[in-house]
Amino acid sequence: MKKLLLAATGLLLNAAAFAVRPCVIPEPVAYTVSEGSFIMPERPGVNSPVGATAKGAVRYFENAGIRAAKTSAPKASITVTTDKSLGAEHYTLDVTPDKIVITAGDDAAIMYAVNTLAQLLRNGNGKIDVCHIDDYPRFAYRGMMLDVVRCYIEPAEIKRFIDVAASLKLNNLHLHLTDDNGWRLQIKKYPKLTEVGAWRVARPDLFPGRLNARSAEEETTEGGFYTQAEMRDIVHYAAERNINVIPEIEMPAHSAAAIASYPELACPVVDKFVGVFPGIGGKDASIILCAGQEKTFQFIQDVLDEVMDIFPSPTIHLGGDEANKAMWEKCPLCNQRIEDEHLSDHEALQGYLMDRINRYVRSKGRTAMGWDEVTYGKPKEDIIVYGWQGDGGVAVRDSKATGHKFIMTPARSTYLIRYQGPQWFEPWTYFGNITLRDAYMFEPTGKDWDDALRSNLLGIQGSLWSEFCKTPADMQYQVFPRMLALADVAWRPEGRADWEAFLPALDSFTGHLDDKGVVFAKSMYNLDHVVKGNGKELLAKASCIRPDVEVRYSLGDSLFNDYKLLTDSVRIEKPATLYAATFKDGKQLGRTLTLNLDFNKATAKPVITNSCRNGLAYALTNGLRASDRNSDFEWAGWYNDTAEFTVDLGETQQIKSVKLGTLVHSDICIAAPRQIHVYTSDNGKAFTLRRIVDVPEDLIYHCKARVVDIDCDFEADGRYVKFVAINPGCVPDGLAREGTPTWMYFDEININ
Ligand code: ACM
Ligand code: ZN
Repeated sequence: MKKLLLAATGLLLNAAAFAVRPCVIPEPVAYTVSEGSFIMPERPGVNSPVGATAKGAVRYFENAGIRAAKTSAPKASITVTTDKSLGAEHYTLDVTPDKIVITAGDDAAIMYAVNTLAQLLRNGNGKIDVCHIDDYPRFAYRGMMLDVVRCYIEPAEIKRFIDVAASLKLNNLHLHLTDDNGWRLQIKKYPKLTEVGAWRVARPDLFPGRLNARSAEEETTEGGFYTQAEMRDIVHYAAERNINVIPEIEMPAHSAAAIASYPELACPVVDKFVGVFPGIGGKDASIILCAGQEKTFQFIQDVLDEVMDIFPSPTIHLGGDEANKAMWEKCPLCNQRIEDEHLSDHEALQGYLMDRINRYVRSKGRTAMGWDEVTYGKPKEDIIVYGWQGDGGVAVRDSKATGHKFIMTPARSTYLIRYQGPQWFEPWTYFGNITLRDAYMFEPTGKDWDDALRSNLLGIQGSLWSEFCKTPADMQYQVFPRMLALADVAWRPEGRADWEAFLPALDSFTGHLDDKGVVFAKSMYNLDHVVKGNGKELLAKASCIRPDVEVRYSLGDSLFNDYKLLTDSVRIEKPATLYAATFKDGKQLGRTLTLNLDFNKATAKPVITNSCRNGLAYALTNGLRASDRNSDFEWAGWYNDTAEFTVDLGETQQIKSVKLGTLVHSDICIAAPRQIHVYTSDNGKAFTLRRIVDVPEDLIYHCKARVVDIDCDFEADGRYVKFVAINPGCVPDGLAREGTPTWMYFDEININ
């Protein structure tokens, strides 16, 4: 733990007072510890001069796992007082050898103080160092989003998330309640939303590859919904823990569940069966709520009336993202609306819809929220925007232009669907990585932000999209422990990030997750690797995001026989298996990384290319085969373009066999090339065509992930071997990603 003598900062309280990073998440603003300690009695008495607050305080102690009893001032071990001058969510906590005093700016701050106390107690096994804490959040909005559409979970499981969120001082739970894959909230005026819309066909495939139901005759067995009574109970439970529940009702897109229930909500040009999507929907994703007819507006307003009755939240989330306008372009009613309202185009039609609903929400005394796209077509500076695309830059740009308030939940830093560690050890998800360290180091503001922009940022949110989850435990695994890191970002003062100092607090808090029966990932102990050739041999490195562990490795055929400390690169000149893992105090912590390194004439040789899209061309000759995950950092990728790359064998060699590894997974827009042309050259300038390979159609768009070595054999001498791989074009109709441009991925070049 980092200790900083306060004398050095000019804040000397007494000679023995230290500022340290306590084992509390989120990190308190100021914490000083002195000599001595307080021992918590079995059943501490709590006194508060404010009657109602004392009752609340006892409940907060109970929720935090401390059995407390309300008592009179002289008998109290803990005194809770309020001081409005501290302001919202601000508390101080004073621990002396014989008592604890909590002073709080409001009710929420009492709970935060109690939660801090509970963490200190857990860490000290019932004993707390004499200390003073002064604490308040950086951001007013500290959120967590759960997508309960893609993975329905029981109310009790939502409450379990709420419990942990409360102990992390989060104050908003955003529930994504409606989407293409299900409608999860009972709406009394539209019963089919949950009779039909809450249920989808069960498909055994992973998310994007699940094909749509073909007719209403197919049984829909997967799903679930929350009755209004259940949801009111969740809202009440959260409110008792100072968490506001924000409901999200998606519009105009991500609405297949609503349209499956009430087909008349789609544009009248839609004349096919639309069911609740089990996957991504293919071209049916363009079937969205029709903005040309009044009954759509009536539907949305009726739904929102019931939603606003259930959720007292001052803000209501209207979705607004990813609306494909293909059906609107064909719809006479939508086109008539554009003419009647003098709108410029179909983007402006979405602006019209969002504007009307925004005004409706405002007329009920609430504020509308939505994803980035909610303000497209017609900026509405009174809507709160969730910046989600990329690094959140769109929301920043819009806020600069129009003064929108916004919340940062950028996909690149806060989407908990992403891998949290080396992918070979993780359940299959999507996209790239956000490690625990990445989440902890996330800084939502930019160095160039002015004060106005800063004041428009309300806070941050971790968002769990649950397409790849099947159970509450799967969801917990993706959320924890990264939510701990994001809660720290949301609360701690700007510029305070200290990854190493965070780790003891993290380790202490994961004990709390264990106690709560919450599953959390241990990916932080797994090893990332990089293997690169230097022309002659391979250099292998392995690293862990935790600096407090050792990395040990062995080369050979026995795991950790004669293992060594890995401090730099391991040099490998011939076929070998490298085993490595993290250790602390002689105990293995992470999973065993096993790298099977193979050699052929191309291994360790340089690859020349100008067009590789993901910068991983070196992986083509690093002796290591990629997994069936495109984003495992072992595949060299090209997008919607011809791939061209050349390996330099160093000297002219006899070539008898050539193979090229490729990944096919059309469910996520990855296809094999249509054709591969292979050339050789002695000088790297004049090339001779040696082979044209036509890849069979059934292999090009294979739906499930498949690694295929394409045979490009020929016999010739040459120093340079060039591959030109022709992209096959968009995914054909009838497959999950129909009509989408494709990536091609390659690994490994094998020349003998
Ligand atoms: C989103 O991820 N489409 C909000
Ligand atoms: Zn329409």
